[in-house]
Amino acid sequence: MVLKRKKSEDYSRDFKTISGVFDEKTRLSLYKLLNKKKIQIQSLVKEGKESIVFSGLTEDEKEVAIKVYRTRTMDFKTISKYLLGDPRFQKVSRSRRNFIYIWCRREFKNLQIASRNDVNCPKPIDCSENSLIMDFIGKDGTPSPRIIDVKLDQPQKTYDLIINEIKKLSKAKLIHGDLSVYNILFDGLPILIDFSHTTTPKNPIAPQLLRRDVENINSYFTKLNIRVIDSEKLYKDLIKLLGIKEDD
Ligand SMILES: Nc1ncnc2c1ncn2[C@@H]1O[C@H](COP(=O)(O)OP(=O)(O)OP(=O)(O)O)[C@@H](O)[C@H]1O
Ligand SMILES: [Mg+2]
Repeated sequence: MVLKRKKSEDYSRDFKTISGVFDEKTRLSLYKLLNKKKIQIQSLVKEGKESIVFSGLTEDEKEVAIKVYRTRTMDFKTISKYLLGDPRFQKVSRSRRNFIYIWCRREFKNLQIASRNDVNCPKPIDCSENSLIMDFIGKDGTPSPRIIDVKLDQPQKTYDLIINEIKKLSKAKLIHGDLSVYNILFDGLPILIDFSHTTTPKNPIAPQLLRRDVENINSYFTKLNIRVIDSEKLYKDLIKLLGIKEDD
């Protein structure tokens, strides 16, 4: 199925699509953002507990992904834990809604830094309040599969490529923080997504997050019987690239 943009300026259908899903404040800001970027929503891609992802089409029929954080069901405790240590977002009003806006803006910024540093990830396009627009990874409203969903023809090569992406992120002074085979899409090459937990080396929990990222990737690929870099060695190499002191 090839997606076709609806009749121009027909944004009213978008409004119906999102009307049952979000509260009024979210609907209005999302609607404004879509109007500003002249994007029409095409289909629902994934409905999660904390966010909903849609596919959309720009005026020149480029596909985009629209990720909207739910303001009601986001786990406030988790957000606080990750946000408060991030030196980039210390001076913020701590209302629930504002936290979620910052969470969303942080993912946008992380994607900007990652893509500027040549990390294979969706390029961010815009964000407002709890909505984020980025390149769509996939085709005709269907996202590329996640690594967990793919039977890899060349698992060793894919592993090596993922490690290379993590190294690029480390050189850019970022720790993904929620890296796993659930947050990497595959279209022949691995593409990192979901940068909401991503933080800088100055965050006190950065070493802990980095260890978890390394463990997640290594344990999955170990089960595929391929040669993985020893977790401790990989961790130390990445710590060096990030320029942080070790946690032990
Ligand atoms: N840029 C994108 N292009 C295409 N599909 C995307 C994009 N971003 C997210 N998706 C789809 O939405 C799903 C959820 O996205 P993401 O992991 O960023 O959100 P999440 O809040 O962590 O949701 P979940 O808890 O389900 O992982 C992805 O697995 C993918 O199928
Ligand atoms: Mg995810």
